[in-house]
Amino acid sequence: MDAIQQKVTLPPGPKPLPVLGNNHSFVRDPLDFLQTLHQTYGPLATIYMSDTPSVVLFEPEHIHYVLTENPRNFTSAEFAQNLQEFTGHGLFNLDGDTHRQQRRLVQPAFHRKRVESYADTMRQYTLELLDTWKAGEQIALDQELQQLTMRTVAKCLFNIDLGLRNSNLGQAFADIRENQPKLLEMILKLRINLPFTDYGKRQRGKRIIDEVIYRLIAQRRIEGKDEGDFLSMLLATTEDDQALSDTQIRDHIMTFVAAGHETATNTLSWAIYLLAQNDSEYEKLYLELQSQLHGQPPTLADLAKIPYTEWAINETLRLYPPAYLIGRRARAEFTLDNYTFPAKTNVLISKWVLHRRPDLWEAADEFQPERWRPENAKNIVPWSYIPFGAGPRICIGMPFAQLEMRMLLATILQRFKFRIVPGFKMQTDAVITLRIKNGLQVILEPAP
Ligand code: HEM
Repeated sequence: MDAIQQKVTLPPGPKPLPVLGNNHSFVRDPLDFLQTLHQTYGPLATIYMSDTPSVVLFEPEHIHYVLTENPRNFTSAEFAQNLQEFTGHGLFNLDGDTHRQQRRLVQPAFHRKRVESYADTMRQYTLELLDTWKAGEQIALDQELQQLTMRTVAKCLFNIDLGLRNSNLGQAFADIRENQPKLLEMILKLRINLPFTDYGKRQRGKRIIDEVIYRLIAQRRIEGKDEGDFLSMLLATTEDDQALSDTQIRDHIMTFVAAGHETATNTLSWAIYLLAQNDSEYEKLYLELQSQLHGQPPTLADLAKIPYTEWAINETLRLYPPAYLIGRRARAEFTLDNYTFPAKTNVLISKWVLHRRPDLWEAADEFQPERWRPENAKNIVPWSYIPFGAGPRICIGMPFAQLEMRMLLATILQRFKFRIVPGFKMQTDAVITLRIKNGLQVILEPAP
């Protein structure tokens, strides 16, 4: 109750219920809740996650303050405790010096030259998947893309080929994603490990993935060969002269596979959805591919010739940012806009609202890749677009993701056009990342 009484010093917000705080409204429809908060309370709003005050930020300069001006005051690990169940002490759950040190350690895997060397795998795996699709058939596009992005990240970073159909692992990730804690589990912090509980289902998913990862680590330790990949880097690393333990390596792998496939799958699914809804933008993109690539899958060098593809991806990330919310917890008191926030305040940064603010974006809800044409992009308000975050925790996989999304989209769209099944009503599903509810069913057509 103490925390609730402090509200007088905080920005206004909806009335919290005892115990629940505003959790119920948030869980019911997070995106609508965030929009309504901004419309009702303006630049800052206070909500309560159970009894912890959480300030929701919608202003570019406030977001800049938290992510880059004063990031040391805002921890991620404490905020991301629900992720810890799954990613252990991977980057999401580290802070301060340990975070900096571990991030520096894995950074070489994402240097430009190294990332560019992944382009051939990205193209080859996409072509292999496309060979299994037939014009006229209906597919669950997001599931197909999930298999592709998981296979790609596993091969590029860990040099293992999961094969075209890695449904076991795909299902295990789905078990975790689809059984996130419901209100009761959140409030009561209930963790009952039975086959039918959400927690039990998440644990089952985790067990399956762990088995694969630990087997991979053991095999590599036995082989003792430097494969020159991310995993070899982790195996060769020492921390204060101690090699990383299997658990530390497992946590890094889990973090990178989870962060690296789900976000890219969502973006590509949303991009194809948006292109299927916007004929003239689709035409422009397809014309660019035809005129520049002449029916051939892109090489790394080709990517510079297809800027519209990149703009379409930027625009997709604006409208449907997969990581739609960034969370932090304040270590010490801080001040914003004449409000003083106590230590332990949660900070929520809503990209969903920021990226669609009508005062920051013209025709904010429209899919307009042209706004990313360099002469137009220079008018974009600084800090109004942060799909990959910013500051010391900016997405480490950004160069990988940017390459992958262009390679995959350009390869796919040269072979197929997508028609959304009749009667489909798009609904968003904002749980950990922003997805299309119940997936995207499409009918394949040959590219024109
Ligand atoms: C469209 C694709 C992607 C988007 C939109 C995205 C978005 C983000 C965002 C917003 C953050 C920062 C979260 C924060 O500040 O708390 C982040 C962090 C991270 N991302 Fe990505 N990501 C994408 C792809 C990837 C890929 C492909 C990988 C790996 C192969 C990856 C690995 C990571 C990791 C490990 C972190 C944690 C970094 C840290 O805490 O230092 N992401 N991502």
